Amino acid sequence: MAWDGEEELREHDTATGAWIVIAIHSTRLGPAVGGTRMKPYPTPEEAETDARRLSAAMTLKMAASGMPWGGGKGVLAIPAGLTPDARRGLLHRYGRIVASLGGRYHTAPDVGTSSEDMDRIREAAGPLVFGCSEANGGSGPSGPATALGVHAAIRMTCEEAFGSASLAGRSILVQGAGSVGGALIDRLLADGGRVSFSDVDAAAIGRTRERGIPFIEPAAAIGAPCDVFSPCALGGVLTAVTAPRLRCRAVAGGANNQLADDAAAEALAARGVLYAPDFIANSGGACSGIHMEADGWTRERAERDVEERVIASLRAVFALARERHITTDAAAREIARRRLDGGVART
Ligand code: PHE
Repeated sequence: MAWDGEEELREHDTATGAWIVIAIHSTRLGPAVGGTRMKPYPTPEEAETDARRLSAAMTLKMAASGMPWGGGKGVLAIPAGLTPDARRGLLHRYGRIVASLGGRYHTAPDVGTSSEDMDRIREAAGPLVFGCSEANGGSGPSGPATALGVHAAIRMTCEEAFGSASLAGRSILVQGAGSVGGALIDRLLADGGRVSFSDVDAAAIGRTRERGIPFIEPAAAIGAPCDVFSPCALGGVLTAVTAPRLRCRAVAGGANNQLADDAAAEALAARGVLYAPDFIANSGGACSGIHMEADGWTRERAERDVEERVIASLRAVFALARERHITTDAAAREIARRRLDGGVART
């Protein structure tokens, strides 16, 4: 896969059979930051491709949010059924690698890793880790703050698509009821939204169904009629093939890399579906974690900033897309690109 990043490291952990990949995409605006994703991958090459793509998304996320940080990502491609001891050993080894990068890469939670995992990484990496548990002086899981930003993005997207930000009576399908999707569902329900969900994980399905949220089979999620489709699971759900099957008016969610490629963005626009660019909609967890830990902000201040910034960023994106007749994804990339070219972050 072609990649315009700066640095990459790939190691095999013979003790567990896991592959460790760290991709540093850009340090143009500051040290690279990005979560650590831990899950099985069919091949080490796929883990590497994921790390590369996700690190590029972090660069866009930080730039579009005006943060003085760059983009990176860690992927731990683990075999299924890792024991707790093996997991701990792997996290320590990974932490030592993060430390060896001398501050060029900072990490945080992502799909498959928790605040407790960050505590383990920190034991070896020192202060280069965001999102450690609160008991350990960290900002805790990033999912709830990501959900806060996605919620603001859904409201803003509804304002643009329907002329009102109110979610009362709006039908919203949340794909993935994990740490982001689960917290998002609470917020949507509190707003009077008509929420349904889809997931592939038996525990998440059981837990969410028990709350009386209607379940949509994964295979039916893309084509399910709703006002807003909110991808909050893994990336690549929107392609030139799936986008034309959507029966929603807007897409706004927390997953990274929702669009498989540029053709997917065009297909969404052709279908008249308003897309909230993922790296803006899902920026809340990263931005608030960094503000709280690196800048000493209170949680209240960081959360207020997430809502205000996501709304302001999306407003700018929608305006630019309208004015220039480009997709919202292209508009968001352009805004990020200007910051990267200028080399100046918001203060
Ligand atoms: N997983 C987060 C994301 O993709 C990464 C992150 C969380 C970075 C918290 C910093 C602090 O945005």
